[in-house]
Amino acid sequence: MKVLVVGNGGREHALAWKLLQSQRIRQVICVPGNGGTARMENCQNLPLRVDDFEGIARFTVVQNVTLVVVGPEVPLALGLTDYLQQHNPNVMVFGPTQEGAQIEASKYWAKSLMQQAGIPTPRCERFTDAAAATDYVMAQGAPIVVKADGLAAGKGVTVAATVEEAKTAIESLFKSGLSPVVIEECLTGQEVSVLAVTDGLTVRPLLPAQDHKRIGEGDTGENTGGMGVYAPAPLATPALMERIEQEILQPTVEALRQRGIDYRGVLYAGLMITPEGDPMVLEFNCRFGDPETQAILPLLETPLEELLLACTQQRLEQFPPITWKQGAAVCVVAAAQGYPGSYQKGQLITGIEQAEQLGATVFQAGTQLKQQQLLTDGGRVLGVTATGETLAEAIAGAYAAMDCIQFEGMYYRKDIGHRVINV
Ligand SMILES: Nc1ncnc2c1ncn2[C@@H]1O[C@H](COP(=O)(O)OP(=O)(O)O)[C@@H](O)[C@H]1O
Ligand SMILES: [Mg+2]
Repeated sequence: MKVLVVGNGGREHALAWKLLQSQRIRQVICVPGNGGTARMENCQNLPLRVDDFEGIARFTVVQNVTLVVVGPEVPLALGLTDYLQQHNPNVMVFGPTQEGAQIEASKYWAKSLMQQAGIPTPRCERFTDAAAATDYVMAQGAPIVVKADGLAAGKGVTVAATVEEAKTAIESLFKSGLSPVVIEECLTGQEVSVLAVTDGLTVRPLLPAQDHKRIGEGDTGENTGGMGVYAPAPLATPALMERIEQEILQPTVEALRQRGIDYRGVLYAGLMITPEGDPMVLEFNCRFGDPETQAILPLLETPLEELLLACTQQRLEQFPPITWKQGAAVCVVAAAQGYPGSYQKGQLITGIEQAEQLGATVFQAGTQLKQQQLLTDGGRVLGVTATGETLAEAIAGAYAAMDCIQFEGMYYRKDIGHRVINV
């Protein structure tokens, strides 16, 4: 069986790595992939853009691809799944249709769905006019959260401590064309990511994970795509996971279905657990999280392709319970100097083999292989994942392996997991 993975991040490297552990999978093709997927055995990079739907569809026909797994949100929001279904009736696609991807591509659309289905989420209003948005903020007061309604690659949200800050955020979103905006009640608490897979009828949660969004230690500084993550997050106890499934995931899948949306893929709930212990939805994503996937997949025992096929073939209800390795996993991300601002590319990366000899797995993200040299090619360069019987053991393993890796200007947070353990 051949599987095509769309994307070029650490998430896609982890997906390809996990898929290739199965005997059933002869080959994984990554579009466009990165330096890590270029080097993996039975894996091949296909240098097409993720929005080259025609090229991707043609490849799946000619090469007889069985399954396509779409990593990033942008091609999903542009309708890659719909296009493939129309142009290759034989291929199965894991990832929602354009309509379903609205759950991530429009925060307000997701809000309306949640409000209709009675899913707990902070109050919000949507504005197409900057002056009206500012008036609303002044009436509400701070703290308050300003969000771009549409996709903004993680750069669309300001948690404003003051009304002034909120006004500046509104102005800048309207100026940069990221309007309409959503203004939302500010919650406090701890965040947890619960990714689930669904076939449009049944939903099965994966292990809960906790991401570290900020660039600086102690969760300070600018927001990033994610600097590290661990799973399972002890915050999400079995009792809380049960509530999340009953009160959030199942009603969401049901609400999607009632809207006539056939959603087969990942439903990722970004949750705030309030001080009272109640889960509330901050946002939904329509795909695997990055870096959450790099910590979750190494713990997955169930063959990944079987789980994904059960979703695409709508037989998740009969699928056996998902099984997990005991213990914990942590992924620490190494970024280029300057990230999330501007940074250089093309630095030589060394030490990955040594890191892996220590038992860690290195998932590459912003890398490319050029004349057999591995070079940096993005802001988040790679992630080092280690597993252990305890989270402390996993953390120690990841940092020991990280010590082996070098590239000029390499930066990583040394406190991943600090909310659970004082590292
Ligand atoms: N209502 C809210 N109250 C408090 N913090 C929030 C709220 N909404 C978002 N945040 C913070 O902002 C971050 C980004 O918001 P999110 O809705 O996940 O957007 P995106 O991931 O698209 O940037 C969240 O991870 C959370 O830390
Ligand atoms: Mg988010």
